[in-house]
Amino acid sequence: MQNPTILAIESSCDDTAAAVLKNGKVVSNFIADQKIHQQYGGVVPELASRDHLKNMVPVVEEALKKSQTKIEDVDAFACTISPGLMGSLLVGVCFAKGLALAMNKPLIGVNHMQAHVLANFIDELTPKFPCLCLTVSGGHTQIVLMKNFLEQEIIGQSMDDAAGEAFDKTAKMLGLPYPGGPLIDKYAQLGNPLSFSFPEPKIDGLNFSFSGFKTSVLYFLQKQKKENENFVQENLNNICASVQHRIVSFLINKLKKAAEQTGIKEICIAGGVSANSSLRLMATETAQQLNWNLYIPKMEYCTDNAAMIAITAYHKLLNNQVDDLSLSPSAR
Ligand code: KG4
Ligand code: ZN
Repeated sequence: MQNPTILAIESSCDDTAAAVLKNGKVVSNFIADQKIHQQYGGVVPELASRDHLKNMVPVVEEALKKSQTKIEDVDAFACTISPGLMGSLLVGVCFAKGLALAMNKPLIGVNHMQAHVLANFIDELTPKFPCLCLTVSGGHTQIVLMKNFLEQEIIGQSMDDAAGEAFDKTAKMLGLPYPGGPLIDKYAQLGNPLSFSFPEPKIDGLNFSFSGFKTSVLYFLQKQKKENENFVQENLNNICASVQHRIVSFLINKLKKAAEQTGIKEICIAGGVSANSSLRLMATETAQQLNWNLYIPKMEYCTDNAAMIAITAYHKLLNNQVDDLSLSPSAR
């Protein structure tokens, strides 16, 4: 199919998103986030699916309207099929299936993590293959070796929690609302990253671990609060800066190791945590020191979005990787 128009839907967690891609270019990218989870300190799956159901039609209509696309002009429909919350995924998959059936057009299921990586291929300047991607999200931490658009080999990953969870759970311990990652980033900018020292997690090879780190932050805070009950309020910026520094330097150290082992200098980052200002800065500085060609997606393509689903679907379509109506989601 030449120059296809694709309508893509993302609903794996708590963002309902739709995007339109024409001739390989994203022409609209619209997201409705769900504020309801803030009061619960994390995403409540049942509430997330109900909100997707409410938001889906207006979000898709907005993406079509913004790109001046009529539904009859869409050549293929795409949706996220895994990983994610089952109820949330089901809403997007059923909606995309319904559209594909009604319009008699192809349906393409997309893996959310593969799509995060391909967010680096939305804009003009894109990595050359082979390249490495550090993918850091709320549920995953991976180093991926990309041989081409669709062949991604995971060469390192977290053995327990994800980097995003380390940010979010630390934020929760500090009494900050969900999602805490962006808030830690904000307060960290006002603090000294060397104020408090947290140990770098020890784990072999290119893998990651954050659960021990999380416990060390918890014990540190418990001990400090015993001595001064206002410790967190008085030191919020410095705690955030120190925690962020350790998470980011751990991520970058593993990425450096992966680049050294593979000899690859085409490097990208992706996923919600790649919106972190310190990670973006440290990756940029490291790239200058080690002569990497570094690629970082625009902010709107770091956190969950449907543009990344659309670009992945585009490459799948070009390679005839199309699904039929038996397509069903999977949580993992
Ligand atoms: O990729 P994403 O939007 O959703 C998942 O696929 O999980 O990632 C969400 C994660 C959350 O843990 C959130 O706190 C984190 O990305 N995040 C950040 C920042 N923006 C989002 N973490 C640190 N600094 C940020 N600026
Ligand atoms: Zn994501």
